[in-house]
Amino acid sequence: MKDRFGRNIDYIRFSITDRCNLRCRYCMPEGVKLEQHENMLTYEEFLRIADAAVQLGITRFKITGGEPLVRQGCADFIARLKAMPGVEQVTLTTNGILLAPLASRLAALRLDGVNISLDSNDPKDFTAITGFDEYVQVMQGLEASLAAGLKTKLNCVLLPGCEHRLLPLAQFAQNRPVDVRFIEVMPIGQGARSLGPDRDAVLRVLKERWPDLHPVEEIRGNGPAHYYAAAGLTGRIGLIDAVSHKFCEHCNRVRLTSTGLLKPCLCYGEGIDLRTLLRSDENNQEDLVDVLRQAIWSKPRAHCFDDVAAITEQKTMSEIGG
Ligand code: GTP
Ligand code: 5AD
Ligand code: SF4
Repeated sequence: MKDRFGRNIDYIRFSITDRCNLRCRYCMPEGVKLEQHENMLTYEEFLRIADAAVQLGITRFKITGGEPLVRQGCADFIARLKAMPGVEQVTLTTNGILLAPLASRLAALRLDGVNISLDSNDPKDFTAITGFDEYVQVMQGLEASLAAGLKTKLNCVLLPGCEHRLLPLAQFAQNRPVDVRFIEVMPIGQGARSLGPDRDAVLRVLKERWPDLHPVEEIRGNGPAHYYAAAGLTGRIGLIDAVSHKFCEHCNRVRLTSTGLLKPCLCYGEGIDLRTLLRSDENNQEDLVDVLRQAIWSKPRAHCFDDVAAITEQKTMSEIGG
């Protein structure tokens, strides 16, 4: 359906858990409070919301977290979502650690894509950023994903001082059909203290190595990334530049936290509590569709990352799901 600014909202992000098996400083620092299990939506509840979303024209679903693969039954949930009439696309964003043994199953379920978070290609650096010595497991996840034929992308967050990591990370796109996306840090949660280089700084570094790097108009995902190609690269380079270049006028999405808070925009803490509605005695699917419709209609025009005092979101990215 369209929101009040005429944007077509056809994509929803489901954060299925706030748990994660890493502790990236900018996302889920040590000591972060975890939700009680009974406050998390069940898979049945997520599927009821998916059914309501489909009725409003939402056809594309992103499964995220925390780390979605730490929640038991994630692959079965994806299978059920894929089988739901009206669902056209389901993709997963993961840190890759638990991916290797699951990749062929996910490919058999016709999962439409996997984005793997990787902020450094140096194992020691990886441990310093994430708190865990698990670089090898992520590489196994990446290779298994490619071997299974899954459409695979890397998400690399532009942390302060990361300039020396840009070329080694971009090289993942050299001989493999992997899109490497560089993401400007957004000032949400601890991200506000980790602001790093912006899109233009990345392009300057990459153009020294691939002078013919140029923008392409291809649609390779669901929105926020702009893609670049070069003759020496098999995959594409993506830039997600929400901070330096606002792309909100093309926004196509809403988000649902693992506790059932429907968030019309990443930047603001306000949301609609679907869990209470789902668990009330007199709940029916029509009411759920109506509440979703109102939430989409009331989506804010844009984020306010340029005015940090106006950001009302206090949750961590691991709760929101990116
Ligand atoms: P595909 O296009 O399907 O590959 O996925 P995606 O890029 O939408 O999702 P992914 O989970 O890989 O997220 C990549 C980055 O984009 C993360 O840092 C998200 O927080 C960020 N992102 C996703 N949607 C939005 C959005 O609506 N606004 C902003 N500002 N950032 C977003
Ligand atoms: N800014 C930008 N991206 C972030 N992510 C987590 N926190 C931030 C932030 N503050 C990324 C993760 C993952 C995706 C879902 O969001 O690295 O790739
Ligand atoms: Fe976990 Fe992803 Fe957050 Fe890192 S960025 S702590 S992998 S949810």
